[in-house]
Amino acid sequence: MTIEIRTHGRVGAEVLGVDLSRPLPEAEFAQVRAAFAEHGVVFFRDQSITEDQHIAFARRWGPININRFFAAHPGYPEIALVVKEPEQQHNIGGGWHTDHSYDFEPALGSILAARELPPEGGATAFASMYAAYDGLPEKLKARIEGRRAVHSARHVFGSKAAVYEAVQDTRSDGRIGNAAAADVLDDPVHPVVIVHPLSGKRAVYVNPSFTVRILGVADEESQDLLAEVYEHCKKPEFQEDFHWRDGSIAFWDNRATWHYAYNDYHGHRRAMHRITIEGVALKDQAAG
Ligand code: SIN
Repeated sequence: MTIEIRTHGRVGAEVLGVDLSRPLPEAEFAQVRAAFAEHGVVFFRDQSITEDQHIAFARRWGPININRFFAAHPGYPEIALVVKEPEQQHNIGGGWHTDHSYDFEPALGSILAARELPPEGGATAFASMYAAYDGLPEKLKARIEGRRAVHSARHVFGSKAAVYEAVQDTRSDGRIGNAAAADVLDDPVHPVVIVHPLSGKRAVYVNPSFTVRILGVADEESQDLLAEVYEHCKKPEFQEDFHWRDGSIAFWDNRATWHYAYNDYHGHRRAMHRITIEGVALKDQAAG
């Protein structure tokens, strides 16, 4: 098989000519890794993989992070379930975010495999934080350069979480749990602009779900500045939707993209399997 990498509109790349049910030869893996680093998210179509093969592919990238808050697959604790049943109103991931920025070493990325799709809708939007950084107006860039921000999971997954109605709902039906674990998490500080550990490119690294404040400025200024950065990052020119089909797999980099799961398929089931891979501490300058 020959690998082909095709850009996916404004964000990501589709990788053609790979079969993820088998171990990728080293040369193919290197091509996929290069595309992942360059584009921030890679998409695969027409795959037929078992849970074990999903896990094996994920392990090629690093150790698996077993999610503390999402319901796990009954037979495979490495696989988090991202499911919405026909009678449920709220989905998981229905707001712009990047996974695990509330960890000291935020997850490298997640590999999401479609298992059951609604007849229409249920796409995932991705926004490139490389492009968002490159497109920052100089004045805004100067205001965030060198700054650091606090991230937290407590207001989202903790017992006092009141921010998201969706979280309350997904918790009451058991899709999200373990609030006690979120309550005791310490909040990490990450650079607002990171140098990406794989690509060496600069990327905006704050997100509307988990970033709580920018350090070194007054609270109000921090909220205003975050709002301004988010408004910029949400611009359509940095975004692209991914429309799932049977056999689709998306592998996104949490340090280079945001994502958002559309909740536009009420009355239908959508079931996805997610495996998240451990990452490294983030820096605002290249490791020397
Ligand atoms: C997620 O945010 O991890 C889920 C994305 C999706 O279901 O499309």
